[in-house]
Amino acid sequence: MSSRADLLASGVATLTAAGIEGAPRDARLLLRWASGLEAAAFSARLSDSSPADETARFAAAIALRAARRPVSQIVGGREFWGRRFAVSADVLDPRPETETLIAAALDGPRPEAVLDLGLGSGCILLTLLAEWPETIGMGVERSPAALALARANAEAHGVADRAQLLEGDWFAPVRGRFGLVVSNPPYIPEAEVEALDPEVRDWEPMGALAAGPDGLADYRTLAAGLDRALAPGGRAILEIGAGQENDVAAIFAEQGFRLHAAHPDLDGRPRALEFRRSEADFR
Ligand SMILES: C[S@@+](CC[C@H](N)C(=O)[O-])C[C@H]1O[C@@H](n2cnc3c(N)ncnc32)[C@H](O)[C@@H]1O
Repeated sequence: MSSRADLLASGVATLTAAGIEGAPRDARLLLRWASGLEAAAFSARLSDSSPADETARFAAAIALRAARRPVSQIVGGREFWGRRFAVSADVLDPRPETETLIAAALDGPRPEAVLDLGLGSGCILLTLLAEWPETIGMGVERSPAALALARANAEAHGVADRAQLLEGDWFAPVRGRFGLVVSNPPYIPEAEVEALDPEVRDWEPMGALAAGPDGLADYRTLAAGLDRALAPGGRAILEIGAGQENDVAAIFAEQGFRLHAAHPDLDGRPRALEFRRSEADFR
């Protein structure tokens, strides 16, 4: 039996040879996951021998990571806004950038009802419902496998009774109006998919990533349908990709929405665009 420290060193070597950036961090995370130990206990017991089942789990995890599978998919979860969301190859790995949208939403008035278009793991809608215990929500997702995972996450976070999660194409299954509409739609131009990191290109669902030749196809659909889903005085907040601010603002302006704020991510880049109706509305 090898010690955990020896296993860790060999895992780091394998991942480094496979060209994984951050190999020591990933190997440590995977060994801790394989051990089932909490962070403090893991550090204290690094020189202990690793039991056979743990060693086998770690070896399998290192092989997957060397094949560029994201750590979140190997360990089956990801932390987002302080909560753990189950993650699989059927959903986008919740990104830290998307927390910009959460911060922007929570910074404004609490809506009675929120609509999330393109649920994925459900990280956006379910976080907002967990933060706003008096709010109800509706979420839409085209992929049945992603929807099933979002439903499991809703149960895990105790918000399932306030979340209506529906399968469908953007606004098609939506009924009613919402004080807040949020979405992190696919926004990568098709031609750029090939150049993405293998972790994303080879392991994340293409239907969560690519959006037509210019990456803006889904913003056009969302802008065109927003008027009938947004309550009077409501807000819409959408995540965007790098450099898309002006194009997306123009698409929404054409449909009668003005850019109220462009919320920057931790790198200072506009990441979440907040829209309101251009005219004071009395609907
Ligand atoms: C970029 S992912 C975002 C997932 C999640 N909201 C997040 O932020 O991690 C976009 C999601 O939209 C879904 N989607 C793509 N086209 C759709 C459509 N026409 N109708 C409904 N959902 C769609 C994808 O399956 C994917 O789950």
